[in-house]
Amino acid sequence: MNSQNDSNVSPLSAPISRRGALCALATLTLGLIPATAVAATGVRVLKNGRIEVTLAKNPALKEVGGVVRIDNVNGRSIALVRTAKGKKGFVALDLRCTHEGTLVQQDGTSWFCPNHGAKFAIAGDLEIGPARTPLRKLRIQATSKVVTIS
Ligand code: FES
Repeated sequence: MNSQNDSNVSPLSAPISRRGALCALATLTLGLIPATAVAATGVRVLKNGRIEVTLAKNPALKEVGGVVRIDNVNGRSIALVRTAKGKKGFVALDLRCTHEGTLVQQDGTSWFCPNHGAKFAIAGDLEIGPARTPLRKLRIQATSKVVTIS
């Protein structure tokens, strides 16, 4: 009798164990939700509209590959990326996708656009379309203590 009932249960309607549900949730979470950049601290908007980022307050930028994100400053979302050691080892990116302007999200060592799937390297280079150009780089000036973004 039990085997008769079992034959009527389709794999899609069978009860899911708690362990199975947790495994599925972990898989979905790891696969679909990207890592996010740390929000920058020590950010100051100057009278001329430039954005000053104090390096000592952003430990993520000590290491090459570190990223901080500055959102909603002068209507923009910006990432400051450490690409090399030294004062010239920074890139500031406008995080609007160059396809249709959707904000890109960090996904490990890349940026991806949730709108149509474009992908950019962490320093902004285009990897996968439909965007045709890299993320826009913003002008920066750096000292050993501060990065100023124009
Ligand atoms: S808006 Fe980013 S891929 Fe289309």
